[in-house]
Amino acid sequence: MKTNAALTQLAAEAAGCERCPLYKDATQTVFGEGPASASIMMVGEQPGDQEDRTGHPFVGPAGQILDRALGEAGLARETIYVTNVLKHFKHEMRGKRRLHKRPNQDEIKKCRWWLDKEIAIVQLKLIVALGVTAAQALTGRKLTLTRERGKTLDLWDGQQGMLTVHPSSILRMPDESARHEAFAGLVADLARVSEIAG
Ligand code: URA
Repeated sequence: MKTNAALTQLAAEAAGCERCPLYKDATQTVFGEGPASASIMMVGEQPGDQEDRTGHPFVGPAGQILDRALGEAGLARETIYVTNVLKHFKHEMRGKRRLHKRPNQDEIKKCRWWLDKEIAIVQLKLIVALGVTAAQALTGRKLTLTRERGKTLDLWDGQQGMLTVHPSSILRMPDESARHEAFAGLVADLARVSEIAG
């Protein structure tokens, strides 16, 4: 059933997910959002602090970069399905701050169960991996950003993917000119996404 109702139902099931222990320290499940008719799916690594608090993917600083890049590439976010490999925020406390922690293979494998169901419902032409963690979860192999970004990747059953940078990596860059260049690179990759599947 490739419908919005099927996605709503799936999100409701995921709200009670206890497939791995990450739910224990997270505020809530952050499920993917977007229409079942989306031809493009964007997959990030996991919700961050603000996503965990609000329950929506890519609404914090990385989400703002993504929205700006989508706008510059001529893509409307409302037409795209945006999700993450992990549906819970994995973090450690540093004082009062909750700092992002990399997911391990077991967590990725367990949560892939939900991603597979999202992919089966959404009528995709292209899956965009935001960063190498998402690309590795989707392909099952280690990809190098410098070598493989912006190229189409054969995933399975004719499903096409593409790797680009994670918007958070742009935020982490120490100098302004590097940030500008990386942002322009993201926009260029998204413009290609728009050409292929927009
Ligand atoms: N980073 C991600 O990978 N996903 C989000 O939803 C937010 C930040």
